[in-house]
Amino acid sequence: MSKILVTGGLGFIGSHTVVELQNEGHDVVVIDNLSNSSRDVLKGISSISGKEPIFEELDLRNKQDVQNFFKTHSDINGVIHFAASKAVGESVGNPLLYYENNINTLVYVLQELDKLKDANFIFSSSCTVYGQADELPITENAPVKPAESPYGNTKQIGEEIIKDSCKVIPNLNAIALRYFNPIGAHETALIGELPIGVPQNLVPFITQTAVGLREQLSVFGDDYPTSDGTCIRDYIHVVDLAKAHVIALKRLLDEKNKSNFEVFNLGTGTGSSVLEVIHSFERVSNEKLNYKIAPRREGDVISAYANTEKANDELGWKSELTLDDAMKSAWKWEQKIRNK
Ligand code: UD1
Repeated sequence: MSKILVTGGLGFIGSHTVVELQNEGHDVVVIDNLSNSSRDVLKGISSISGKEPIFEELDLRNKQDVQNFFKTHSDINGVIHFAASKAVGESVGNPLLYYENNINTLVYVLQELDKLKDANFIFSSSCTVYGQADELPITENAPVKPAESPYGNTKQIGEEIIKDSCKVIPNLNAIALRYFNPIGAHETALIGELPIGVPQNLVPFITQTAVGLREQLSVFGDDYPTSDGTCIRDYIHVVDLAKAHVIALKRLLDEKNKSNFEVFNLGTGTGSSVLEVIHSFERVSNEKLNYKIAPRREGDVISAYANTEKANDELGWKSELTLDDAMKSAWKWEQKIRNK
């Protein structure tokens, strides 16, 4: 049994990962500063897995606190680092906040890892690093394109920082997981996504519209060169994504990694259009969604979906749940949090 630190462990992907780690018998310590999450998530996690993780409310931007944390928890066997800000638009308006939240914190954590016996490190990265890839589906060898936003830049720089660190910290082994579009919620509806304010992402906007919180969903553009004119993305169920973290961590704990810095795409391998997502929602919820076609959103790529061969063959992970499963769980969660 291993002791695993999950930073940002009360967030959307973090909380689902804590559940899967505990289901596999790991002891989990969660760090979160509650900037985009709530203490109540702990209750959801323990209701599902029957076990409450150790929780430290801590802001990783405070270097001294990070140092003190690792002094107290020197027996940690692995770190899964989710803690970061993730709103693209906000990052354009406040880039320095994003560099502080996403880069400083990463550096402070990495600086402590040489003191651990087992410096196994999993990093939350994003398919945003590929921009509009020239070839689809996107493999891990696709070139990293200049970032469209400070948020995207923090993911690219973050990967570079880890790669450079792996060259000099002898016991450091790291995996960067490049997520496509994580959606859905735990099937129990005890944990899920909690967007603050008006959601920027498609699925929470759909469920909030259906529940009556938003009047209408705008579909950003129907004149793209795709089958129905709307953008294509690879929507992956958050529970599948969470399981991939546990498998990636095990790869490092078992010393099965082929180099000390590896990268994997995490997606389903299937692209879905915005209209297909809406139709999936309507199918599983029996609700009619109020939507209209609106102008394109600046910065959107036309189409992005993963080549999953490397994750399937080398990591030994494959997504199992469908788009309908994800939409069903997202809808159940939305109704639960609005007490419907
Ligand atoms: C966005 C980020 C990406 C980040 C990811 C994290 C941008 C440009 N990209 O990805 O960097 O890693 O979130 O989850 O913000 N859509 C609508 N109406 C809406 C909202 C979205 O039509 O109200 C469409 C978008 O145009 C897009 C698709 O739905 O085609 C998915 O959008 P979104 O959920 O925001 O994800 P990405 O843009 O793919």
